[in-house]
Amino acid sequence: MADHSSTALGELSSVGDYERRARDVLAAETLPAGMWQAIFEDPHYEGWQTNRNNRAAFDRLWLRPRVFVDVTELNLATTALEAPISLPVIVSAFGHHQRFHPDGELATARGAAAAGTIAVQPIAASFSIEEVAALGSEPLWFQLYVTRDRGLTEHLVRRAEEARYRALVVSADHGGATLRNAGAPERDSEFVGMVDPERVLRNLRNESDPSGRAIPRGRLDFDPSFSWSDLAWLRGLTRLPLVVKGIQTAEDAALCREHGVDAIVVSNHGGLTLTNARATIDTLPEITAAVGGALEIYVDGGIRHGTDVLKCLALGARAVLIGRPALWGLAVAGEQGVAGVLEVLRRELARAMAFCGVTDVAHVGETLVARESS
Ligand SMILES: Cc1cc2nc3c(=O)[nH]c(=O)nc-3n(C[C@H](O)[C@H](O)[C@H](O)COP(=O)(O)O)c2cc1C
Repeated sequence: MADHSSTALGELSSVGDYERRARDVLAAETLPAGMWQAIFEDPHYEGWQTNRNNRAAFDRLWLRPRVFVDVTELNLATTALEAPISLPVIVSAFGHHQRFHPDGELATARGAAAAGTIAVQPIAASFSIEEVAALGSEPLWFQLYVTRDRGLTEHLVRRAEEARYRALVVSADHGGATLRNAGAPERDSEFVGMVDPERVLRNLRNESDPSGRAIPRGRLDFDPSFSWSDLAWLRGLTRLPLVVKGIQTAEDAALCREHGVDAIVVSNHGGLTLTNARATIDTLPEITAAVGGALEIYVDGGIRHGTDVLKCLALGARAVLIGRPALWGLAVAGEQGVAGVLEVLRRELARAMAFCGVTDVAHVGETLVARESS
């Protein structure tokens, strides 16, 4: 089993430190090779080029600091779909947190709450919607994939409403059929020895369904036919704010606006889906130009430092989401590790703001950044 006990978090002062420590902690585990490569950004995994693009694009974008600004008081707090958050960083959804720490999604939700921000609870979870909500560490968002069984989607939406989640995050970039059945636990060796068998795809268990309706156990049967008219159906299903995750073009951002979506996450899934995709930070300007002001724009992919956060804000994001960094923190020290990573980003962001003459995350203009060639 992984050794989650021996890390003094004070020694970890950067996201890179957490990544290195997570490699040590998880080394003894039986993570499948593909999973290991994806979470540690190994050149041998299929989406690595997209992942590398995400990272490299931040290095082509430079900061233009302003001086003689009174930076005695810095405000890092903002709101996300009206929920106050203490820094513009949210923990993104990633599947089955128990693969990385025994306390799984509970630890992630507690860590995010301790840092004063939101954790997005994944549909592919080892703790259920209700178990995480019972922590009382609001606010939470619920991420779902739409499956062929629309009744199941509706049921999950009702459960998220009942458990007082604040938003639904629909991941649009599942690649349809290619990922179909990717979560089928009985045949999927990736779960063996990692997740308590009782906790595989916990949200698809039926115990809390008041109607007693049977839900196919343990299968995430992605619906490859889901299209914009179906999004209208989903929009009509709930009054919860709707977030679409996986937007990469101005055209699709505009369609989200037309379909009554409240927020989008500009995301290429951290490279886990399509190789050769554009870096998300490079995509952000066209999307901000198309829908900025009409809906809230979030972005993820390759954010590893407070200056990355600042660059995203400058190009129109309200806040960023982090995937792997939170996962590394979780692996290293559960709740404290997730909170620790968020505190690293908070410190770095505050320092960058002070040096750039930015006093409030709500007022970061695009003049703060310049492209490498300019
Ligand atoms: C191991 C892993 C599992 C993921 N699982 C999901 C998922 O179940 N649903 C989802 O919407 N995104 C998932 N993602 C994508 C993340 O939400 C996020 O978009 C991505 O990790 C951001 O890039 P970053 O890791 O560079 O921060 C996953 C990412 C990783 C690394």
